[in-house]
Amino acid sequence: MKIGILGFGVVGQGVYELLKDKHDIVKILALHHETNDIFCDDFAAVMQSDIECMIECLPDVEIAYDYLVAALKKGIRVITSNKAIMARHYASLINLALENNTTISFEASVAGGIPILHRLQDMKEYDQIQMVEGILNGTTNYILDSIFTKNITYQQALKQAQELGYAEKDPASDICGRDVGYKAALLYNTIFDANVALKDIYIKGIEYLDEEALAFANRQDKVIRLIGHIDQNNVFVLPFFIGKDHILANIKENNNCVMIRSQNMASAYDIGQGAGRFPTASAICLDVSRPLRNQIINKATIKNEQRYQFYLSKQMIDQQFIAEYAGQGCITQLLSIDELAQIVKDQQVFIGGIYDQSC
Ligand code: HSE
Repeated sequence: MKIGILGFGVVGQGVYELLKDKHDIVKILALHHETNDIFCDDFAAVMQSDIECMIECLPDVEIAYDYLVAALKKGIRVITSNKAIMARHYASLINLALENNTTISFEASVAGGIPILHRLQDMKEYDQIQMVEGILNGTTNYILDSIFTKNITYQQALKQAQELGYAEKDPASDICGRDVGYKAALLYNTIFDANVALKDIYIKGIEYLDEEALAFANRQDKVIRLIGHIDQNNVFVLPFFIGKDHILANIKENNNCVMIRSQNMASAYDIGQGAGRFPTASAICLDVSRPLRNQIINKATIKNEQRYQFYLSKQMIDQQFIAEYAGQGCITQLLSIDELAQIVKDQQVFIGGIYDQSC
């Protein structure tokens, strides 16, 4: 296949390495690189070449959206690892691909080396997917795992995650849960052929994690993990207090872990690298071999009625919602995610769900 690659950074170089002996790499858009027959610094040159497939590996820049649109309009197969663009412009990009009789694939945008989107699309053919849940952000997992196992501070762990290249350019996207929000939207849309956007998802990150919450976790013999949850009626991103013997509590460093529960399969866990040169490039290769099936046919029905007890590191809600006091913090009555959202609103407090160990 004749392929064009946009971007020649960490991921772009990995893609080139994995594909160069099997496909015809016709053009590579790479700024600050000498130009020759293959390398160019102008997107127009990519469009003028006769590529059949365009792989977008640019840093998270909005111009990438224009490039994806231009390629789709020409009927070129598009592959991207850009979760933010994909989640923000989901409907327009999918519809454009459908109108132009081509496809847009984004396996690498969710959980890097874990081929979750292809797996879910394949499963849908013969099974009913009931829930997908797990650790979808390496940076926050690295921070949380480090805090609980290496006895270092939040700031030290974040600095290490940035130095190791796990964090986004703006690490607030990782810390505040937005990165997982994008991935949760893409998972929901893939499973249910729907069009959920970031605004439909309840998102809390680990930005308000404090000594009080850590002390509560230790007293309970639990750890904290940032979890993305997707089922037909619920999509949310929330830290959870999880018992130390649970699989999710034992996901180390920057690994991701995706749990799928379905009617036929019961529960299965996939663990692996969610980012990095070759894990991401391998997901892109999967899209080269077999594009994702694009469809939007269903209206989402997100009610966020899933119920948990929640720990809050400050006692800042009405007494009627409090089941128990815990140091400076408190544990709520059993509440739905939607009720929690209405009670807590935008108050700056660390919130963690109490994970149901039977899950
Ligand atoms: N910043 C992301 C993470 C990169 O930490 O998981 C992969 O999406």
